Amino acid sequence: MRRNSMLRILVVVTPMMIICCLLALGMSAAAQSVRSESDNGRCSNKTIKGDYGCSIHGAHDEKEMISIGFAVAPVPLNLAGKDRDMVGLGSYLVNVIGDCNGCHSDGPATEFIPTGNPYLRKPPGGPFSGSIQINTATYLGGGRDFGPFPFPTSTLHIVSRNLTPDKSGLPEGGHTLAEFIQIMRTGVDMDHAHPNCPTNAPNCMAPPFDGDKLQIMRWPFFRNMTERQLKAMYTFLSAIPCLEGGPGEPSPRCQ
Ligand code: HEC
Repeated sequence: MRRNSMLRILVVVTPMMIICCLLALGMSAAAQSVRSESDNGRCSNKTIKGDYGCSIHGAHDEKEMISIGFAVAPVPLNLAGKDRDMVGLGSYLVNVIGDCNGCHSDGPATEFIPTGNPYLRKPPGGPFSGSIQINTATYLGGGRDFGPFPFPTSTLHIVSRNLTPDKSGLPEGGHTLAEFIQIMRTGVDMDHAHPNCPTNAPNCMAPPFDGDKLQIMRWPFFRNMTERQLKAMYTFLSAIPCLEGGPGEPSPRCQ
């Protein structure tokens, strides 16, 4: 008798548990798909609504990136004739995500002004004022020497390039948007700064390294950015002030 009632309970409870499990699985899959669709502010399934609602969430996120981008840009920006949102988004990608200036300044010693260098101590031990301030005199102007390549015997040094616009108004030494996208996606060195040995060039690059490709530069990772993100970075790089100097740049390059 006892056994029979246990069986009856099992017969009723088991299907209910299975239904509950299936429901829970379905719900988490739906949440997952909402999240991935809102990633880029794009939306393929307009039927899903709610807090994570399609496009609304992603678009809001991009607005926040744009305003952070403007807040962290260390130099005055020339917005004339440019899409303001793309400049802000580009600033976010260059200054927050990509840390382009970490390599494309003149080097760590002058990347910040002394009172704005967060790696230094506050007085009396050091000059740090408590607020970070990037040195605008070297901002994205290139020239950071990464030393002998390959280390330690080579006479060839890899030096970061000047990304600021020249007198043409185009970023990084006058490259077009199409060229910039190609550089970021393939790592091609359009300036041929270190052709493959053997050549007559004193700064040729020895095997196994490929002198046609930018070394150290993080293009194998930036290459996966969206076209809109690359365009935004290019737009930002055309809005910053020109700086003189950098490998292979004519002098003067700003006027
Ligand atoms: C880890 C250091 C590093 C970071 C981070 C970095 N770069 Fe570079 N980049 C370099 C170096 C070094 C070169 C030159 C490489 C060479 O000479 O082989 C270079 C070259 C380039 C070039 C080629 C310039 C030309 O005249 O053709 C572009 C464009 C560029 N970087 C853009 C960027 C952007 C945009 C970012 C941020 C999203 C960035 N880089 C972040 C190190 C870096």
